[in-house]
Amino acid sequence: MKRLSTTGLAICVIMYRLFIADTLHATTFTVLSPPNNTFVESKQISIVLSLPNGEATTASVITGGKTYTKSVPTRAGGHKICIGVTLANGLNLLDITTSNRSGISEKENLSLYLRSALSKSHQNPPAEFKRYYFHTPANETACAPCHKMEPTLYDLNPEKLEYSACYQCHKDKASGIYKHKPVSTGKCFSCHEVSRDKRKYTTTKPDQTMCFLCHSAQERLWKKKRIHHGPTAVGNCTLCHDPHGSDWPSFTRLHPTDLCLNCHNDKKTGLHVIAGFFGKGHPVKAAKSPLKPDRPFSCAGCHNPHAGDTQSLLNKERDKLEDYCQTCHKL
Ligand code: HEC
Ligand code: HEC
Ligand code: HEC
Ligand code: HEC
Ligand code: HEC
Ligand code: HEC
Ligand code: HEC
Ligand code: HEC
Repeated sequence: MKRLSTTGLAICVIMYRLFIADTLHATTFTVLSPPNNTFVESKQISIVLSLPNGEATTASVITGGKTYTKSVPTRAGGHKICIGVTLANGLNLLDITTSNRSGISEKENLSLYLRSALSKSHQNPPAEFKRYYFHTPANETACAPCHKMEPTLYDLNPEKLEYSACYQCHKDKASGIYKHKPVSTGKCFSCHEVSRDKRKYTTTKPDQTMCFLCHSAQERLWKKKRIHHGPTAVGNCTLCHDPHGSDWPSFTRLHPTDLCLNCHNDKKTGLHVIAGFFGKGHPVKAAKSPLKPDRPFSCAGCHNPHAGDTQSLLNKERDKLEDYCQTCHKL
């Protein structure tokens, strides 16, 4: 095949300028939320687009190898489209495209960073990423025409989750296999402040001031113990628990063993339990839990993540280690 000549190339460029580049700008959209180069702490977020002149028929977001597509509804008064996506820890590069009947019409990129307190390499976002909070009066103005942005007294105690003022935009908060009761019943305001300040819906720190309001039995029990586990002692409950729910019992953010290994990676092999027995350690994962059959076996099968009476926070305190082993093994 003949190579493209310079004149041919020039013609292509002119054609591109005249026709293609023109259609590229035919439908403009703006990203209303979130802004570029920001960081968030929730892996489920929504990309909200504004499509003023109504030419686009679909909008897609591609991130982490997944494509999320929505068709643009035909409604009066401009078009907003809200696409829920899932982010991975660290840097996420999102490709946002809209298309009309003749193909892709516009493309924009968004860099977002998902910070995670549970991943050493993703605890500190690069300096160019600023923390993003959505619920400020300024941001909310764009949504008010279609969404209820000012909760009323009713929302303190809605009859069910679906009636909560938060549900339409935050369905994912109640999507875990295990759901926290105040969340599955729509009582968002048992933890989030109603305040109409610069930032709405904040929560009090440390977490335990919020958790112990309802979990006073645990508070009393743990206070009586001699040893308090580091992260629990400082009241950082949501480091390990997702306050809304998760796919693990007790709403832990990860399999409990993976939680523990974040800070105690040297215990991964389980050698510390039965060092030298068979040259291999005690299982710490992927086994049936003899004492708590409703959940997977983990470090928490032997250790209490909150408090205990011995230095090693064992669930079953025994004078002799052999007796201890017998809480699960018949010898
Ligand atoms: C023109 C009306 C309109 C405006 C303005 C609007 N939305 Fe929506 N939004 C809707 C409708 C209708 C739905 C439910 C149907 C759907 O998913 O498209 C929705 C759904 C959502 C969802 C849930 C998406 C999902 O996948 O479940 C989120 C999040 C959302 N909107 C956020 C926003 C935010 C934030 C703003 C302001 C920046 C906003 N919307 C402005 C009409 C609007
Ligand atoms: C119009 C949609 C919409 C409604 C209604 C809504 N939110 Fe949000 N909210 C968002 C968006 C968008 C974000 C940004 C993060 C994301 O994409 O999920 C957000 C973020 C948050 C955050 C994180 C802090 C922040 O400001 O970014 C909290 C907490 C929150 N919402 C609580 C609530 C509660 C409680 C309610 C009900 C009273 C509620 N939201 C109602 C759209 C909405
Ligand atoms: C048991 C307490 C509790 C309840 C109930 C609760 N939340 Fe939260 N929520 C929190 C805490 C704690 C945070 C983390 C805030 C922080 O990091 O400063 C949070 C964060 C959020 C965020 C920000 C994203 C994230 O996951 O960090 C959203 C959105 C949110 N909550 C929405 C809701 C909605 C909607 C409801 C009701 C359906 C609700 N919450 C009920 C405690 C709660
Ligand atoms: C408004 C009251 C309320 C608040 C505040 C609250 N919880 Fe709960 N929590 C409940 C209720 C109700 C249950 C369900 C108890 C049951 O089914 O026995 C529950 C259950 C739980 C469970 C599961 C218990 C199990 O048996 O596995 C965990 C874990 C938990 N909460 C952690 C927390 C944490 C962490 C906080 C603070 C971020 C918190 N809760 C704040 C009311 C609350
Ligand atoms: C180091 C991680 C970690 C921290 C921090 C933590 N928890 Fe837990 N929590 C767990 C694990 C793991 C379980 C499940 C235990 C099991 O499977 O036996 C659990 C279970 C629970 C339960 C279920 C009932 C029980 O007593 O086991 C409640 C309630 C609870 N945690 C509340 C809290 C509160 C409140 C705080 C903060 C004061 C907190 N947790 C801090 C890891 C943690
Ligand atoms: C955020 C980090 C963090 C996480 C996650 C964590 N721990 Fe810890 N753990 C600590 C700190 C800090 C101490 C106190 C350290 C010390 O004194 O050596 C500690 C102490 C302990 C001790 C007592 C050790 C001793 O010699 O005093 C045990 C047992 C323990 N953790 C088990 C667990 C288990 C089980 C989990 C998971 C459910 C877990 N930890 C999750 C930070 C963590
Ligand atoms: C089968 C029970 C069992 C399992 C599973 C288990 N441990 Fe232990 N762990 C023990 C015993 C027993 C001790 C030693 C107690 C003693 O000598 O006082 C101990 C001691 C510890 C200590 C304190 C002593 C030290 O060497 O620093 C930490 C921290 C610890 N375990 C963390 C973990 C973590 C993290 C996991 C999961 C990866 C885990 N353990 C799984 C039984 C267990
Ligand atoms: C909280 C319960 C619990 C305690 C306490 C416990 N184990 Fe285990 N142990 C288990 C479970 C669960 C398994 C896995 C069994 C399976 O896979 O069917 C296991 C497996 C083992 C195995 C077989 C390992 C293999 O790879 O097949 C040995 C050996 C063992 N435990 C020794 C001990 C010793 C020694 C102690 C006391 C220091 C102890 N265990 C304490 C729950 C426990």
